Formats: sequence, C-alpha cells, structure tokens
Amino acid sequence: MTAPRVVAAEFDSWAEAGRGESMADGHGDMTAQALDRVDFDSDDRALDLGCGIGWGAREMLARGCGWAAGVDLSAAMLARAPAGAGAGYAVSRAEALPFVGGTFTRVLTVEALYYCLDLPAALRELRRVCADGARVVCLLDLYADNPGAHGWVDALDVDVHLLSAAQWAEAFRNAGFAGAETDAIVDRRPLTSAEEFEPSRWFADYASYRGYRELGGLLIDAVA
Ligand SMILES: C[S@@+](CC[C@H](N)C(=O)[O-])C[C@H]1O[C@@H](n2cnc3c(N)ncnc32)[C@H](O)[C@@H]1O
Repeated sequence: MTAPRVVAAEFDSWAEAGRGESMADGHGDMTAQALDRVDFDSDDRALDLGCGIGWGAREMLARGCGWAAGVDLSAAMLARAPAGAGAGYAVSRAEALPFVGGTFTRVLTVEALYYCLDLPAALRELRRVCADGARVVCLLDLYADNPGAHGWVDALDVDVHLLSAAQWAEAFRNAGFAGAETDAIVDRRPLTSAEEFEPSRWFADYASYRGYRELGGLLIDAVA
C-alpha cells in the first residue's frame, strides 16, 4: 500500500495543478443530488471528509447547517479552502480524526474513502465522531459495479480500494453504522459525444466513458 505521505504529496500536486477547483465542478451535480436527500438545520454540525478545497463543507453551510468542518490529508488542498463564517478546516488523516466522539450530525464524503489506506480504521473513526443517528452520505465514482472506471486503478499513482456496493455497505455496518443503503446517482450534465471524446489516462475509449456515465456513481446513505 502507498505510504500516507505519498498520498498527501500526490494530492498536493493535484491541488497545485488546479484540480481541487475542477473536482468541485466535476463532482458538484452528483453531490447536489446526494445532499438533496438530507435535511439541514442550524443545530447540525457537518463534516466533509476528504474535502479537497472544502466546497462540500461550504455547500452544507449554504443548505442551513450551523457549522461545518472539512478534513483532508493534503495541506495544499486546504490552503485553497476559504475559511468563512461557520466553516473550519483541518489537515488530518481520516484514520485519526481531530474531533471528540459524537461531534457530527451530518457527514458528506465525496470521492475520498477509497483512498483511505486503512479503510476499516477510517470507517470506525468516522463512526466515532458521529452522534448516534447522524446521517452520512458518501459518493464514490470508482467501485466494482461500474467497470467503465476500473482503468483508474492503474491510472492513479496511489493505491485504491475497489469494492462493490454490497461490500461498501457491509464495511459501514462492520464499522458500527446502524444502517447503510446504496443507490446509483447519475450525473445530469450532458455526455460528451463520441465525436468530441478524446482518450485520456482516465478513459481509454468512448465505451468506457459512456458506460461509466450511464451507470453513475455509488451513493452510500448511512445512519450512525
Ligand atoms: C478525489 S479527491 C476529492 C476531493 C473532494 N471531496 C472533491 O470532491 O472535490 C480525494 C481527496 O481525499 C483526500 N484523501 C485521500 N486519502 C485521505 C485520507 N486517508 N484522509 C483524509 N483525506 C484523504 C485527498 O487528499 C483528496 O483531497
């Protein structure tokens, strides 16, 4: 497995290349659909785990939660996260979170958990910082049931976990979550046409890209 400092350095380089901002754009529609399932009010304390530049934390504030924290392994990502009223950020590994138990009532985590080197520890830690009954929405584009994205496993310069929807739900329950349902969320942005498509390290051919977009991302909707 990749060492944590190597993962941090990889995402620091993504941040320096402007990918924090492009991920905010690329993940925004599916995240909005996931957050539409959750109610927020001023008593809610929200966590965005693996927050990148922190746009998810700010989105939960905009939806009405009282305060929000973003945590990320990459200091360079968080250097691009504007702290504002109600939002704070911490450089930390998901496997050892800097919060007392039961802190959060709402959690968002987007495209982050499959990078956690010790996934059982990260999920146990997430459960520890959740209040009983807290709602967790987790979005993942890379999962075993969507073969269009499997090329990312080799394209990425860090190790990842490639689990099915059923395995993710089981991992949440094994970490102490009371329930974990899964669903697919399809990005509503228009598909790139076959004529416009250009092969990349992420999608070698149009069939992979199209298959990935049509099956959509995996939502894990869990209750602590
Ligand atoms: C693909 S990016 C997604 C960022 C953000 N959620 C978004 O959608 O824009 C994955 C993020 O997870 C962070 N990450 C990876 N492993 C982590 C870990 N073990 N603990 C905390 N953050 C981690 C990375 O630094 C990176 O910013």
